[in-house]
Parts: sequence; C-alpha cells; structure tokens
Amino acid sequence: MRRQRVGVLISGRGSNMEALIRAAAEKDYPAEVATVISDRPDAAGLETAQAQGVEAMCIDPKACAGREAFEASLQEQLQSKGVELIACAGFMRIFSDGFAMRWHGRMVNIHPSLLPSYRGLDTHARALADGVKLHGCTVHFVSGAVDAGPIIAQSALPVLPEDTADELARRVLRLEHELYPMVLSWLASGAVSLKDGRVAYRFAVKDQTRLLSPMSSAE
Ligand code: GRF
Repeated sequence: MRRQRVGVLISGRGSNMEALIRAAAEKDYPAEVATVISDRPDAAGLETAQAQGVEAMCIDPKACAGREAFEASLQEQLQSKGVELIACAGFMRIFSDGFAMRWHGRMVNIHPSLLPSYRGLDTHARALADGVKLHGCTVHFVSGAVDAGPIIAQSALPVLPEDTADELARRVLRLEHELYPMVLSWLASGAVSLKDGRVAYRFAVKDQTRLLSPMSSAE
C-alpha cells in the first residue's frame, strides 16, 4: 500500500496534529505525515511534531511580502516534501481562492462546531449562549470561504446544563481527535472524494440511531 503524503498546517497547540501523527504511525494507515508547517514560530505543535519524529518548520508571514508570497513559500515547501493532501489543524490563516482551488478536493479542515453553525472563533461560548442542546465538530473540504466547504463528517455530543465553555471545549476536542484521523484515512484511501462540489462516499453510510438531548433521568 502506498501511503498518501500529508502536510499538516498548524498555528498553535497541535493536539489534532498529534492525533493525526499517532494514527499515521499505525502500519496500515493509508497516510503519512510528511511535514508539519506552522505560520507561527512559537506554535507549541512544532516541538510536539519533532518529538514524534516528524519534520516541522515555520513559515512566518511577517517575513513574507504579503499573502501571495506566503502562499508561494507554503506551496514550495509542500511540493518539496511531495505533499498530496493538506490537513489544516488549528491553522489560523485564510487562504486565497487561488490556493484553495489549487488544493481543491485535497485539503481538509477541522472546526469545533457543527457547521454551518458557529463559523469562526469562540464556538463553544457562542453555542452555550444560544442554549443549543447538541454541539460538536466538523471535518470539511476547504473552499475559499472561512469554515465553509463541503462537509465530510461530524461528531456530536449533548450540551449539559452545567457545561462551561472550557468543559465543552475539552469534550469536543476528544471527539475531534477521534474524527479527524478517521476522515483523513477515508480521504487518503479514496473512500471519500469531492465530485462536482459534493462529497462522494465509496462505502455504505450506516443509518445510526438518533441522538436525543436532553434525555431525562427522572422517573
Ligand atoms: C481545534 O479545536 C480545531 O478544531 C480548531 O482549532 C483548534 C486547534 O487545536 N480549528 P489544536 O491545535 O489541534 O490542539
């Protein structure tokens, strides 16, 4: 089996990146993390990647003359590592339409909400403020727009009355670490692809039982 070469883009902690690196360490995983690239020199994920034996580097936008130059360096680095798929994992930059088009169907992102609700930042606090009863995370193909693009998979959990934004973030992050490696393996093996703007699945998608929230424990 030839493993697809993945470039992981980060800006910070890198816990999703670490989940992908760990999954890719399994011998039958269809992808390998070829490189980790951060746009911030202080991203903690850079050290984590190196500690896991993965080459990691920073391309600092401040050292580039604008977004075009940044994306040109990024593209050059990805190409030099033979990257075939990009996984954005807490990467805080917006791509130009040109870059997004170049990686059309080959670039995915994870977002900590059930999209299309709560694009952008502070998703957990906003979900709590709205009183939603189900929350979660989404892996989607990246299009030009922020936190948009065809949704591949989502994972949901019930919001509890005593939840705080931090607690919700902690529980959703656990779902993220499970969902992202699963979706990347589908993409790398060709089980999932983007066809005419829609996600195509080459496996039978199971009809799961419903998730109902709240459920009462009262008699
Ligand atoms: C995650 O919640 C991810 O969904 C979002 O940014 C956060 C990054 O966390 N895009 P980490 O760097 O993967 O720990």
